[in-house]
Amino acid sequence: MNGKEIIFLSGISKLETNEERWNPFPWYREMREHNPIFFDEQQRVWNVFRYEDVKRVLSDYKTFTSERERSTIPIQLESSINLTSVDPPEHRKRRGLLASAFTPRSLDAWKPRIQAVVDFLIQGISAEDLSKPVDIYERFAVRLPVTIIADLLGVPNSDWEQIKEWSDILFLPHHQEEIEETTKQKAKVMKEFGAYLLPLVKQKRSQPQDDILSDLTQAEYEGTKLTDEEVVGSGIGLLGAGNETTTTWLTQCFYYFAKEGVYPQLRKQPELIPQACEEVLRYHFIASLDRAVKEDTDVLGVPMKRGEIVIAWMSSANRDERQFVGGETFDIHRQNSKEHLSFGNGQHFCLGAPLARLETQYAMTSFMKAFANIRLAEGYRPWDHLVSHGSTLTSLPIYIDR
Ligand code: HEM
Repeated sequence: MNGKEIIFLSGISKLETNEERWNPFPWYREMREHNPIFFDEQQRVWNVFRYEDVKRVLSDYKTFTSERERSTIPIQLESSINLTSVDPPEHRKRRGLLASAFTPRSLDAWKPRIQAVVDFLIQGISAEDLSKPVDIYERFAVRLPVTIIADLLGVPNSDWEQIKEWSDILFLPHHQEEIEETTKQKAKVMKEFGAYLLPLVKQKRSQPQDDILSDLTQAEYEGTKLTDEEVVGSGIGLLGAGNETTTTWLTQCFYYFAKEGVYPQLRKQPELIPQACEEVLRYHFIASLDRAVKEDTDVLGVPMKRGEIVIAWMSSANRDERQFVGGETFDIHRQNSKEHLSFGNGQHFCLGAPLARLETQYAMTSFMKAFANIRLAEGYRPWDHLVSHGSTLTSLPIYIDR
C-alpha cells in the first residue's frame, strides 16, 4: 500500500443508509440537474455528474492526469508497473506488457474454457436446488470470474476461495469510521497474497508455461526483465480487477432480468442477450473514478486549479438524459447502451472488458438455454445484502424454473 491520501466518497455523497447506497440515482439526478459540477469544501474535491463532463475527465489526460497524490480508489498498488496511476507515454509502455493477453483474438483461445466452467456451474444446480431459492451470487457469479482469472494467470484455481477472500478485502470501500482497521486489513492481505504468489512466480520464471504470469516473467520493461515483485504486483492487480467487478455485473444481470421480467423474452431471443447485459452495466453499476487537474483550467466552464482532484461519477453519467433518452428506464432494446462509461473511457479503458463481456454473455446465454425462468425470492430487498459501507451485492437468492 502506498502513501496516497484517501478521499472518502461517502463524505461527499452523504448517502448513509444501505438503501440509499443501493439507489443513489435520485441524488445523481439532483446533482446532474442542479449542481452538475461542484466543489466539496470539506475534502477539497471537484465532482462532475453529466455524461460529457465525466467522459472528458476520464479521457483528457493532458488536462486531468492519473498521476495524483490523493485518490478514492480502494486498492492502491505499489507496483512500479501499475497502470492506473500514470499517463501516456509511460502508460502505453506499461499497458503494452499486458495488452496482448486481453485482445479479443487472444481470448478466442479461452472460449472453450469459459464455456466449460459455465457448464460445470450450471450442472452443479441440481433438481433438488430447484425446490428452493438458490443463492446465484455464491453459486455462480462469484465462481466464474475467479476461476477464469486464476486460469489465465496460471494460478491454481482450486485456491479460488482464498483468492476471492483476499481480493474482496483489497476492494473493500473506504469509510471514515473504519479506515484504520480497513487499512491494516488490506496491508495484511497484500502481504499474504504476495507471499502466496512469489514462489509461483519464481517457478514460472524458470519453467515458463502458457499463462500470463509466465509471460510477465519473460517480458521486458525499459530494457530489463520485470522483477519477481513487479510480476507479483501485477498478478494481485489482475486477480483483484477481474473478480469483484465481473461478479457484480453477473449478479445484477440475474437481478434485473428477474425483476424486470425480461428473462423469458431474452431466452426466446438470445441475440438480445449481449445488448441486455450492457444495459445492466449502464443502468446500475455504481462506480466513480478520480483524476488530478494537471494545469489550471476552465475547460469544464469553472476555474479548476492545478493539483485539485476531480471525481467523475460514471454511474450518474450513465443515466444522463442528454446521452440516453429515458435514461432512468431499464430498456433491453436501447440502441446505445454500450456507450455507458462503466468500463471507463480513453487510454485507461478497461483492459479486461473483452474478457468480462465474454464471461457474462456465455454465462447468461447458457443459463437461459438450461432454465426456463428465474424469479426473485419473496421479500428480497437488495439493500439488505450489501457489502459493508458499499453498494455491491453479496447474495441473490432466486427461484430457478426448469
Ligand atoms: C464488469 C467488469 C469490469 C468493470 C466494470 C471494470 C471497470 C474498469 C474501469 C472503469 C477501468 C478504468 C480505470 C481508470 O480509468 O483509471 C478499468 C481498468 C482496468 N481493468 Fe477493468 N473492469 C472490469 C473487469 C475487468 C477484468 C475482468 C479485468 C482483467 C483481469 C480488468 C482489468 C483492468 C485493468 C488491468 C485496468 C487498467 C487499465 C489501464 O489503466 O490502462 N477489468 N476497469
